[in-house]
Amino acid sequence: MLSTATKRIAPPKRLLYGPGPSMVEPAAYEAMSHPVLGIRDPHFLEIVGEIRQGLRELFGTTNRMTLPVPASGSGAMEAVVSNFVRPGSKVAVFAAGAFADRISIMAGRQRATVARLEKPWGEVFSASEAEEFIGRERPDIVAFVQAETSTGAYQSGRAIVPAARAAGALVIADCVTSLGAMPVELDDVGIDAAFSCSQKGLSCPAGLSPISVSQKAFELLEARTEELFTWYLDLRLMAKYFEPPHVYQHTPSPPLFYAMHAALASIEEEGIRNRWARHQRAGDRLVKGLVALGFEPLVRLPENRIWHLTTVKPPVGLNEADLRSRLLEKYSIEIAPGLGQLAGKILRIGTMGPLATDENVDFLLEALRACL
Ligand SMILES: Cc1ncc(COP(=O)(O)O)c(C=O)c1O
Repeated sequence: MLSTATKRIAPPKRLLYGPGPSMVEPAAYEAMSHPVLGIRDPHFLEIVGEIRQGLRELFGTTNRMTLPVPASGSGAMEAVVSNFVRPGSKVAVFAAGAFADRISIMAGRQRATVARLEKPWGEVFSASEAEEFIGRERPDIVAFVQAETSTGAYQSGRAIVPAARAAGALVIADCVTSLGAMPVELDDVGIDAAFSCSQKGLSCPAGLSPISVSQKAFELLEARTEELFTWYLDLRLMAKYFEPPHVYQHTPSPPLFYAMHAALASIEEEGIRNRWARHQRAGDRLVKGLVALGFEPLVRLPENRIWHLTTVKPPVGLNEADLRSRLLEKYSIEIAPGLGQLAGKILRIGTMGPLATDENVDFLLEALRACL
């Protein structure tokens, strides 16, 4: 039996200042109440087509094979890894955070040999480190995380991709946190296959995760003769639905597509560069305010920081879990703890989408000050 007295749920209104899920764009909430349509309804297919075009613009690519996978970010990660990593492949992972670890685990489960270049969490990799590592390992695939949400470090990929290309390796990038809030620029950077999510920089609910695959990479995939271990995430099968004649593979969830369409429309209205700049300004303001309160940024150099996800060590003697509880109780504000080896050591604070404004940053800083 359902246990709520009225059989209707009433979740509290929270201010999601964490690493995701982030605040949902109001227009996206509204869009989700439109009627569900059939999977081949011309109106639905038009919406799907517009979403794919909007995503290409955010990814900075002309890749035809740009589409939303029916999953959270990890599902999109698994889609890319399970389609491109084959048994016996050598995968070189730039590992300085929990999500690079997740890629390594997934690649291992595809029976690949995984080589890792590790650095302390919060650091990024230089071009000379990338050249040495890739030159030594000669991998088939190079993987890196563009915005490592477990540490707050941003790595565009420009220091890594040239060495990968020189070695003839395919480049995979985790753009789960960067898409929609920071530059991704797949074509410019030279990334072959990228995956993201909906619940961070796009200001949507989780459940529909964009991926983008270059023509060259898709041709490699089509040339694979053996069956993949995965069926649901087989991009060759999935692409048959997204392209004419729209052959059924899985049942898409129209409300999530409507939400993504509305979120992309509002990003287009603002302009992606204006949106990046707004996130950068909010992030700078937040870091300044946090430093004034005695917090210390984990990522040392400002140019290596994710604009919309700030990671800080709390002042000595402050219990980060107690602080988070007080913020939630008194202000309905959610911020996040560290992950993995940084659990209990840092706080992760997101200023994404609607929260990336001076007023919302100042409100958070005031609340934090009152809860110290
Ligand atoms: C960089 C990165 N990659 C992958 C994921 C996994 O995404 P999800 O939690 O949506 O499965 C996350 C989630 O926080 C992330 O930040």
